[in-house]
Amino acid sequence: MKKYLISTFGCQMNEHDSEKIAWILEGMGHVSTDNREEADIIIFNTCAVRKSAEDRVFGQLGELKDLKRRKPELILGLCGCMMQREDIRTYFLSKHRHIDLVFGTNNIHKLPQLLQRHMETGEVIVDIIEDTREIEENIHANRKYSYKSFVNIMYGCNNFCTYCIVPYTRGREKSREPQDIINEITELTDNGTKEVTLLGQNVNSYGKTLEFEYNFTDLLRDINKIDGLERIRFMTSHPKDLSEDLIKAYGELDKLCPHLHLPVQSGSNKVLKSMNRKYTREDYLSQIRKVRAINPNIAITTDIIVGFPGESDEDFIDTLELVKEVGYDSAFTFLYSIREGTIAAKMEEQVPEETKHKRFQQLLDTLHPIGLELNERLIGTTQDVLVEEISKNDSTVLSGRASNSKLVHFKGSEDLIGKIVKVRINNVKTFTLEGNLINMEA
Ligand code: SAH
Ligand code: SF4
Ligand code: F3S
Repeated sequence: MKKYLISTFGCQMNEHDSEKIAWILEGMGHVSTDNREEADIIIFNTCAVRKSAEDRVFGQLGELKDLKRRKPELILGLCGCMMQREDIRTYFLSKHRHIDLVFGTNNIHKLPQLLQRHMETGEVIVDIIEDTREIEENIHANRKYSYKSFVNIMYGCNNFCTYCIVPYTRGREKSREPQDIINEITELTDNGTKEVTLLGQNVNSYGKTLEFEYNFTDLLRDINKIDGLERIRFMTSHPKDLSEDLIKAYGELDKLCPHLHLPVQSGSNKVLKSMNRKYTREDYLSQIRKVRAINPNIAITTDIIVGFPGESDEDFIDTLELVKEVGYDSAFTFLYSIREGTIAAKMEEQVPEETKHKRFQQLLDTLHPIGLELNERLIGTTQDVLVEEISKNDSTVLSGRASNSKLVHFKGSEDLIGKIVKVRINNVKTFTLEGNLINMEA
């Protein structure tokens, strides 16, 4: 029996892969620890989406050198998106002699056999599979929470947005069989899960690789029927494939949460074209109008990149205008980061760092007051909140998510964790809501 520690650097998909790795290691009899000093196995589940994510991996790997020197029997494994890239793998292995094991995103199921090989031979084991068709279905996950769970519905991405490394690390798109997904969610619900987040890089194209006619909305309808399940979320949908059918589902499916994360990336048609996003600003705004026509209370969030090659002041102003026109509840904002091997990396007219930072701040200054104002409209409303945890700063305060995905703080006792309760909102901030628990017996 060994103690293991997994550090996760990437997105929800990466996080969910870590849950699968934990399940495998527990199945081998190992136990988890939070303490690096006492760990016998340390696994870094890496992310390649931006340079900052990679830098964190490099930094933390450097920190482990000393630990490994003091404790040579420590097994250090690297996996995740960075490892799917041959150039990065080679660099790591030549620079960091203290790595024992390298595997990828498509062969997590082989971990027991790879660990075994390393322990028997003492050699550095490198095993990567490029093809998403190899992904093993019979692998479970040691999920972080019992009441909310991530569920993969598809792997890979075929979109090749020109800035993005994901299609090169996660391979080609492949949908899981609907019955496998439904069985997984049914089992989760039987064990206490109330909320599922369906994961895919582009969930709107779910079903395209299946051998029969079945799309993302069909899947949502079938999941909506699962007894005991209360909330369905999904990440991420691509505006080019957002169907009328899916928009209508917001009005039909009682478990589908009133939240749509629809990454726009830029408000300039010129930039969108050069990003290969395959929609215009007008297409996007029209989608938003249709969504709001079904239910004006659907929270809308997005991802925006500033400083994409060729982005002029005018292009950036288009983004600011779009942000105001949509009125986002919140947004993930990113400075464009050059990813070697992508088309955008070779584009001329890279935007100077200083301009990127200036625009980034301007973008936040535009987003934040809008987010606050939308939150203010919720004062006096009652929200259903799935209670997640005790606040880190105050043990009498609980935090959870409203169905629109907003973070809510309120006073309450620990036994409410995992339950859905009613909270009346009486104060708001830019990123959070605050309120009082409504006594349900009253
Ligand atoms: N599949 C999802 C996004 C996955 S990556 C989608 O298409 O919406 C998450 C976000 O990271 C992207 O939406 C984008 O905003 C950002 N991102 C991806 N590559 C980036 C890069 N090279 N530089 C900066 N941000 C990037
Ligand atoms: Fe990247 Fe675009 Fe695929 Fe999203 S859809 S993962 S941004 S290539
Ligand atoms: Fe996710 Fe990062 Fe890979 S965002 S898909 S872990 S490159």
